[in-house]
This record gives sequence, structure tokens and C-alpha cells, in this order.
Amino acid sequence: MSNLDSSRGNWNSKIGFIVAAAGSAIGLGNIWRFPYVAGENGGAAFVFIYIIFVILIGLPVMIAELSIGRNTEKNPVGAFKKLFPRSLWKIIGGLGVFTGIGILSFYAVIAGYMVGYFVKIILGDLNNITSFEQADQIFKSFSANPYISIGLFFLFIFLTVIVVMGGVSTGIERWSKILMPILFFLLIALAIRSVTLKGAMEGLVFYLQPDFSKITLTTFARALGQALFSLSLGMGTMITYGSYISKKDNIVTSASSVCLFDTLIAILAGLVIFPALFAMGMDPAGGPGLVFVVLPSIFAKMSGGIIFGAGIFLLLSVAALTSTISLLEVPVAYFVDEHGWSRKKAVTLMGIITFFIGIPSALALGSNYFFTTFIKENFGFLDFMNALFGNYSLSIGAFFIAVFAGYKWGTHAVSKEVQAEGSLFYYRRMWAFLIRLICPIAIFIILAYIAWTGNYF
Ligand code: TRP
Repeated sequence: MSNLDSSRGNWNSKIGFIVAAAGSAIGLGNIWRFPYVAGENGGAAFVFIYIIFVILIGLPVMIAELSIGRNTEKNPVGAFKKLFPRSLWKIIGGLGVFTGIGILSFYAVIAGYMVGYFVKIILGDLNNITSFEQADQIFKSFSANPYISIGLFFLFIFLTVIVVMGGVSTGIERWSKILMPILFFLLIALAIRSVTLKGAMEGLVFYLQPDFSKITLTTFARALGQALFSLSLGMGTMITYGSYISKKDNIVTSASSVCLFDTLIAILAGLVIFPALFAMGMDPAGGPGLVFVVLPSIFAKMSGGIIFGAGIFLLLSVAALTSTISLLEVPVAYFVDEHGWSRKKAVTLMGIITFFIGIPSALALGSNYFFTTFIKENFGFLDFMNALFGNYSLSIGAFFIAVFAGYKWGTHAVSKEVQAEGSLFYYRRMWAFLIRLICPIAIFIILAYIAWTGNYF
């Protein structure tokens, strides 16, 4: 299928592609997930390992995924099938299709709460917060309401379905281009407020001064999962998005910018959360409710806090939407390309299936005791899906994508694709070394350790 074939769609411009890929990468992973995972895993030491993983694993895997996608112009299953028709590699693509639905099913629950908090702050429900306990109580009773939880979750799946139905470039590019920069500046303003709160220093130390004695192999496993999750890697999102880029775009510079922006936003989110958290004497291991408690507490201490709060929750909802779009796009592209479904049918069916799979997650933050304590106290069904699909499935996917790019398809073929139409592959040898040795070995050791110790959650 030609790159200009309008039925598959194409990005309007190079910047359009970077914006869309960054839109996929930047989302709740940066602002909701990164701070609480960092908080649970020792703070600065985690952040340090995280950054190393983005550079040594995230960037090379992203280059591999984008090259596979652009070369084949296919969804993840179709891509492996096109390159090696009778091999088993397509199973890795299939895992990606599955993982997309799995992640979307809990991600849209949290995204729904973001929309809910946007409405709540406008209604003035978050106005008179004086203590962290109060903010905590408000979120707990909010998320423990099954009608609200499922309703908002449904709304978010619905919004995602509408945008994905419109096709790739029209929906995704236009939104992200305007709104992502605004999110960035609002976060900077919030970080400034947070850092200047009384007692913020302790939080900065926790977040920025690594205590390496806190590092265990589990820290590595969480940092790996978080890096892949945040960069949208390991399930073929970037294969699918890469299939819509033109040969003229430079894959290496595009991937580098996406990694850079994504990491900046995550670090910035930590600068918002941790100083405020410590200033209010809260426990950094706050779990999935963390941002919903900390952010309103900061707004309460700001002049114009309501406007800020409304702005942030609105933009977080939009950032989440540009990510859910990319999650849904993978299974949709698969059914459209491989089974000849119409886009409308694929989107509708996938939306409905995801909704049903996600209901237990929507009930897992207090609505239903069984799902709320699914694995153990404070580790419910949503956390379970998050670990299963958002950590392990991505790690396994990234392992095989690295092996595929490094050995099966080969570094030579990837280099050729990267350099199509004369783009330069600045650090080709370094990339080959990372994708053949560092990525697979590091991921293998981490997964083997987790399997060996049984320390999954
Ligand atoms: N990266 C997004 C975030 O940080 C979430 C996301 C979108 C994702 N597409 C993905 C995660 C594909 C893993 C794989 O919020």
C-alpha cells in the first residue's frame, strides 16, 4: 500500500508526526503514573535509573519500532507478517494488539476521573480544601461511586472512539499542536508554586538527591516498565504511528525529540508533586490517587487556583485523549488492515469490548470491595491491569522488538530504512550495540529476576 494512500492516512507534515507521537507519549503516564511510581520506589534513585533507561532502551526501541512501521506501512501484526510471512513473529504484533486494549481499559478510567475533576473544580467542589486529609477524602468518596466511575469511564471511551473514527491525521494532529505547549507552561507555573511552598525542600531532596541504597532489581523493573509505558513502546503503537510517516522524515531526530519532551514533562510533573507532597506531610507512596489529592491541595494554596485547576484538569484530559487515541489505533489498524473491516466497525467493536474489560478497573478504586482489593490491600484490579499490561507485557514486547530489529530483520535493514531518501543515522553503531546487546540483555535480566522472585506487584 502506498504511503500516500488516503485510506490509511498520513501525517500532514514532519512536525505533525512529532506532535502526534509526542501526543501519544505524553499523557497520564507522565503526570499520573510517573510521580506515584517514583514515590513508591525511592524517589531520586528511581528517577536516575528511569532517565538511563529512556536513553539506553527507550530511544533505540523507538527507532526500531518507527523503522519497522514506516518500512512496512502496517499495523504490528501486518508488519511482522510482511517482513517474514511464515514466521511466528506476528505473535508479538498480536500481543501488542491485545495489550493496547488492556492498557486502554484502565487508562480510560483514570482519564475519566480527570474529566470528573475538571467538572468538580468548576462546580466549586474543590474550593475549600484546607488539609491533605480532606483532599484525600474527597477523592476517595468520588472514586468510590460506581455510577460516576463507570459513567466517566464510558464518556472517555466514547470520546476516544469519536476521534479515532475520524482517522489519524485530522483528529490527532490538530488538537495536540495547540494544547500540549499550554500544558507545558501550566506545569511550569505549578512547579514554581509547589517548590515555593513552606517545607518543600524535603520533597526536592527526596526527588532529586538519589539514595542508591534504596535501589533493588525491583526498582529497575518498575523503571523499565515506566519508561516503556511513558514512551508508548513495546506494543507497536510506534510501529502503527511509524506506518503513517513519510520517507522524508528523519526517524532519529523525531524519536529523540519525542523522548526528550516526554521525559521533560515527566520530570516537571515530579517537581509539581513532590515538593507539595512533603510540604503537606504526606506519604510519597500514595498510589494511583496521588495526583488527585496533591493537585487540588496545591490549587487551594494559589491565588486563581480554580482557574489553574480547571486548566490543568482540562489539559490532562486532552493529553490523556491523545494517548488513548494511539492505544485504540493499534487494534483498529489491525482489524482494518488484516481483516478488511471498515474503520467504523473496528472502532465501534473495539470500543465496546474495551468498555466491558474496563468495568472491573472502574470499580477498583473503592466502589467494589472485591475489585478494590483484588490482589491485596491497596492493590486492586486497576493496579493489576496496570502491572500486567502496562509493565510486563510492554517489557516482553520491547524485548522481542529489540531482538527482531537487532538479529532477525537486522541492524542493516533498520539503518537502510532510517536513511531512506538521505536522512542521516547519526549514531548508527551505537544504536546497533544498544539494540543487539544492552536492550535484550537488560530486559531479560529484569524479567528473569521478577519471575524468579515472584515479586510481580
Ligand atoms: N504513553 C502514554 C502515557 O504516558 C500512554 C500510552 C499511549 C501507551 N500509547 C501507549 C503506553 C502504548 C504504552 C504503549 O500516558
